[in-house]
Amino acid sequence: MREFLVLITFNLLIGYLESELLNMEKNLIIHNSKFLISSSLCNAKTQCISKCLKNSNCGFVIYKDKSCDLFTKLAWLYRTPSTNDIIHKRILFSKNLKYYWPIENLSLEEIITQANFINKEKWSFTEDRFNSSNSAIELNGNHLVLEPRIYFNDDFTVMVWAKVNELILESSLFGCLNGLGEGVHINFLGGKGKAYYAIYSKGSAMFLDLVTDLKVGVWYHFIISLENRKIAYFYLNGKLEKIGQGFYTSGVNRTSCFFGGHSTRAVLDDMKMFNKALSITEIQNEMKN
Ligand SMILES: *[C@@H]1O[C@H](CO)[C@@H](O)[C@H](O)[C@H]1NC(C)=O
Ligand SMILES: *[C@@H]1O[C@H](CO)[C@@H](O)[C@H](O)[C@H]1NC(C)=O
Ligand SMILES: *[C@@H]1O[C@H](CO)[C@@H](O)[C@H](O)[C@H]1NC(C)=O
Repeated sequence: MREFLVLITFNLLIGYLESELLNMEKNLIIHNSKFLISSSLCNAKTQCISKCLKNSNCGFVIYKDKSCDLFTKLAWLYRTPSTNDIIHKRILFSKNLKYYWPIENLSLEEIITQANFINKEKWSFTEDRFNSSNSAIELNGNHLVLEPRIYFNDDFTVMVWAKVNELILESSLFGCLNGLGEGVHINFLGGKGKAYYAIYSKGSAMFLDLVTDLKVGVWYHFIISLENRKIAYFYLNGKLEKIGQGFYTSGVNRTSCFFGGHSTRAVLDDMKMFNKALSITEIQNEMKN
């Protein structure tokens, strides 16, 4: 009986933990070395995060003074508030996250599979939405082009934090296409005066316009997704703005994928791609991070 209860408690705890862990917490530290997986030196936080991603037991990372500590998920039980001003970050990645460009401290690196940008012109590092320097990218009439890959297959979610410096007609936030008209697009401003999400497939096109009018100089969290190969969702700041009938996005080698565009003047940050349509709860947890 006692074992049975312990088991139940443990399972409840895991369920609770998994939803709790999605929130990034600041001003916390983990002192319990029982849950420490490894401790090593890293020159950059992205390197440290990458280490965690390669270790399936890793639930948390604390990066401080070049020291990179990886902790298991249960370490959360031993968190304590830290009294100093340094922020201790815990980061948990969903297994459905396939690509992530955190953009931090002069690094543009994609930290999961090194899907890196192949052009680097007319952009610079700038402050992110937390005012951290060199932790977002400012595009001045250019796009950052990704190496050709199979970025989507069936369902997906793409999310980007972005702030427009100028609302220019048909300026792109994100696009991922092949040479045969199979593509997904987010533009900041379309003919109807709104940002829109488009899917192109086999000569057909689907467009979902935002309801909200974008303002210059304001950070927004853009999310597009496709569920069950056919339902397209467009979210802004964690709220669903539009839903519609999309098109199946096949796993083609996408040779033209980019953030920004030739006429884009905007700041972008924290780009992520998932291999499924995230639920509203998952999206709202992402918003908080
Ligand atoms: C930023 O990166 C440089 C090396 O590229 C490192 O020396 C510095 O400590 C890092 N700063 C922060 C705040 O992580
Ligand atoms: C960032 O700086 C601007 C201008 O100094 C300020 O208005 C804003 O509140 C700051 N934001 C944060 C998150 O600290
Ligand atoms: C995609 O296409 C590029 C360029 O044509 C090629 O270098 C790359 O190997 C292809 N990738 C895959 C996964 O097929």
